[in-house]
Amino acid sequence: MDPIIRLENVSFSYKINEKTKVSVLKNISLSIFPGEYVAIIGHNGSGKSTLSKLLNGILTPDHGEVWVHGHNTKDTNKKRAIRQAVGMVFQHPDNQIVATIVEEDVAFGLENIGVPREEMKKRVDEALNVVKMSPFRHRPPHHLSGGQKQRVAIAGVLAMQPECIVFDEATSMLDSFGRKEVIQVMRQMNNMGMTIITVTHHMSEAAEAGRIIVVEDGEIVMDGTPREIFKHKQELEALKLEVPSVSQMAEVIHRQFADFSRDIIHEHEFIGEVEEFLSGGVGS
Ligand SMILES: Nc1ncnc2c1ncn2[C@@H]1O[C@H](COP(=O)(O)OP(=O)(O)O)[C@@H](O)[C@H]1O
Ligand SMILES: [Mg+2]
Repeated sequence: MDPIIRLENVSFSYKINEKTKVSVLKNISLSIFPGEYVAIIGHNGSGKSTLSKLLNGILTPDHGEVWVHGHNTKDTNKKRAIRQAVGMVFQHPDNQIVATIVEEDVAFGLENIGVPREEMKKRVDEALNVVKMSPFRHRPPHHLSGGQKQRVAIAGVLAMQPECIVFDEATSMLDSFGRKEVIQVMRQMNNMGMTIITVTHHMSEAAEAGRIIVVEDGEIVMDGTPREIFKHKQELEALKLEVPSVSQMAEVIHRQFADFSRDIIHEHEFIGEVEEFLSGGVGS
């Protein structure tokens, strides 16, 4: 299978002025395949947002190439096709809402590309349905909660029918309830076949993905399944990252009760293990 996004020896630096450049990404090679659910983690300033913006041509590399469906992001004739294939959702829901009524906001991008009215209506209905915001379609977005606003922003991206959506810390401004709502939408979209890339500093959120990429100082330092990545507690700590809190708790219990599994990364696994333990299944 061909990758949907391929980075080949990509380096990127920000130009501060004529003389000064800040080198951010260093020789990154990476392939993202259709249908993947990828989390990108790394501490502040490691280059995650810069990397995200290279994935759909908002930024282009100084060295190396980024290919989206075989189109080079440096090819200005392909910019529109690339932006359409890879949508982006950012951190602040307020900065992404442009209209005064929810359904108009979701339709905004479609209007810009001249989608016919009937088709537009259909796509807005479907997108609002996926993010479970249909009952709010006639409301003004500024009355919504953070999680609801973010879901409206997602619907706007979804209506453009991208093959891949990149979420750059899209849950970081939300409370835990809003975050769960948005993660649920990500999972649902992935189940529908969409490629999902999410930048997050919540390890429980990264654990939901099928693959985690760890970025440190502009380089990829780990790439594997959540279960593989979270086995490397010490390496992660050295990168100022943690394992999910349920993994930490399981580890503490495991030290006292060796039969209690330490191989736990999800809340539901932890609860299951505790239930089994308390019912005498483990350790008896
Ligand atoms: N527009 C910019 N101009 C100059 N430097 C920037 C700009 N954006 C980010 N940087 C610098 O690039 C580095 C990586 O930033 P970023 O990609 O935002 O990291 P992350 O998203 O992992 O926090 C940081 O040192 C940051 O200060
Ligand atoms: Mg960032």
